[in-house]
Amino acid sequence: MEIIIKKDYEQMSKLAAEIIAGQIRNKPNSVIGFATGSTPVGTYRELIRMHREGLDFSNIIAFNLDEYFGIGMDLSKSYAEDQSYTRFMYEELFNYINIKDENIHIPDGLTKNPDELCKSYEEAIKEAGGIDLQILGIGGDGHWAFNEPGSSLDSRTRIERLSEQTLDDNYEAFYKNAGISREEMPHYAITMGIGTILEAKEILMIANGVKKAEIVANALEGPVSNLVTASAIQLYQGKATVILDEEAASRLSSVKNTTSAS
Ligand code: PGA
Repeated sequence: MEIIIKKDYEQMSKLAAEIIAGQIRNKPNSVIGFATGSTPVGTYRELIRMHREGLDFSNIIAFNLDEYFGIGMDLSKSYAEDQSYTRFMYEELFNYINIKDENIHIPDGLTKNPDELCKSYEEAIKEAGGIDLQILGIGGDGHWAFNEPGSSLDSRTRIERLSEQTLDDNYEAFYKNAGISREEMPHYAITMGIGTILEAKEILMIANGVKKAEIVANALEGPVSNLVTASAIQLYQGKATVILDEEAASRLSSVKNTTSAS
């Protein structure tokens, strides 16, 4: 695992976008695993800027990590009313790049048959040849995607109940501003499993801000544990790059193999 520490969120986002763009230039039909949340927003803005300068997304295939269960994109609603990750991806990235709609895969939060959906999501990833580059954040409770503490490290795509901390974090980050109460916000999500994520050929994890410092240190340097599912990165066999801003890196005790740059 290579850990790269950048000065701030903007520098973290720029480097993350460069790595994604490099992957797409090397393999125009790359299968990219996308993440949601506040962390990758800057990365996606940078990718949009690169697209305006010619970066071609027309052949990429996208698989999103997760979606809230019980909601789906409803274009008749504003973003404030519709907090689906599907909508997030369109509004933060897909509407501004030339990705083909048929190449976008996001779990359908409105599915009537979640078991079947989870199975076919896994099959679709396999049929696409597997994920070439998986983008990941890390939750305040150490989750990757919505693999909450206690999730098995070989878990597959499934429905997961959100932890109290994730409910608190996402309420503060998204739902509160939308006027949706914590009780009303979705309490379940469809998520790729840790086992699914570990099959990606390459992993790019990003985290910023002092709020993430302790959990980042736990995930990268603490014991591998299903109580911090992002610690599975230590089991990962492929190429893993972790880009942190200085605040998120501030609790790391070892900076071995670390490239520090502005
Ligand atoms: P955040 O979420 O980017 O909104 O902090 C990260 C995550 O839950 O993976």
